[in-house]
Amino acid sequence: MAKKTIRDIEVEGKRVLVRVDFNVPLDMKTGAITDDSRIRAALPTIRYLVDHRAKVILCSHLGRPDGKVVEELRMAPIAQRLSQLTNLPVSTASDCIGADVEKAASTLKEGDILLLENIRFHTEEEANDPFFAQALAKLADIYVDDAFGTAHRAHASTVGIAKYLPAVAGFLMEKELKALGSLLTNPEHPFGALLGGAKVSDKIGLIQNISDKVDLLLIGGGMAATFLKAQGYEVGLSLVETDKQDLAHELMEAAKRKGISLLVPADVMVANSISAEATGEIVPIADIPTNKSIVDIGPKTVELFSQQIRQCQTVFWNGPMGVYEIPQFARGTKAMVELLASMKATTVIGGGSTAEIVEEMNLTHKMTHVSTGGGASLNFLKGKSLPGVSVLLDKEK
Ligand code: 3PG
Repeated sequence: MAKKTIRDIEVEGKRVLVRVDFNVPLDMKTGAITDDSRIRAALPTIRYLVDHRAKVILCSHLGRPDGKVVEELRMAPIAQRLSQLTNLPVSTASDCIGADVEKAASTLKEGDILLLENIRFHTEEEANDPFFAQALAKLADIYVDDAFGTAHRAHASTVGIAKYLPAVAGFLMEKELKALGSLLTNPEHPFGALLGGAKVSDKIGLIQNISDKVDLLLIGGGMAATFLKAQGYEVGLSLVETDKQDLAHELMEAAKRKGISLLVPADVMVANSISAEATGEIVPIADIPTNKSIVDIGPKTVELFSQQIRQCQTVFWNGPMGVYEIPQFARGTKAMVELLASMKATTVIGGGSTAEIVEEMNLTHKMTHVSTGGGASLNFLKGKSLPGVSVLLDKEK
């Protein structure tokens, strides 16, 4: 059911606590933000609230500090970047709950923006502690969830707080639910899904849930090894999830029965080791050496996958085709990104590392939708309900 958004609630003069997902990648040496997409994605909500004279209190986690204060994971650099992006002052708080923060929140003026300290500095956040949720709720009159990327987590700032404040969605949340939701409800056909990444186990639920909706399933990345092994191929030293081999086989059989084309690589790049010094060799899948591992899809596979994808009106992509971090093993992934970026079809990109690759290649603007949620988008497409979404007010009510 559609959720109420900030358009459906009076925000003028109100203290509005917005849960954002500013969990951005950082350069661990310098502390610099390496990809600010998630901050930029929250701007429409922040701008709307500022323009509508709300008092804006932003709250997010950054990294996984496990309930301790970690200096490198403070929110100050994020506040700085947000201030640059909005051209507005953004103040920070020394914590996310407590008397000082309550004072800071209560003295905000209309249009002011306050960014709270990393919410995961408190163990109570991930434990969804009701007292902690109440302490957070005390800061505001309205709760807005714009953190799609964290909507699969039932934490105090994503779920618990909604018990104490009217809870509505922000524009990013609304946009994500629409874009991903339409893949499940009314995708234009032919609809193809290009799946990669290391493990089949991460993608099984997704394959099962979308296999009634897609016309084409293309399997690349490390997970292809389990499918190839299930077909009887030697895959050398590649990681095979032996306990998932039967399931991979079943998925291929089910695809056949349903008339879905499920394609695995026809050739692959293999290497002695997964290191920056290693060189790759292209081999057909029937000739994978026993002492090497698969590190990328090969050129024939790029051609085969491209031909198929070009026929599609809707394409969903999640997971690199190879060991993308090592440039000589990134060709297959890059070719797929370039292809998707050149298409007129609806192209939806899963979040996490998949979105980071598109952003790194400066091609985000060429895609229909690049999700800001890694785990969240996968869970959503697996058909699971997201706890952070369920607690928001329904539109009809
Ligand atoms: C993400 O990066 O996927 C979200 O911010 C959630 O972070 P988490 O996996 O640490 O809960």
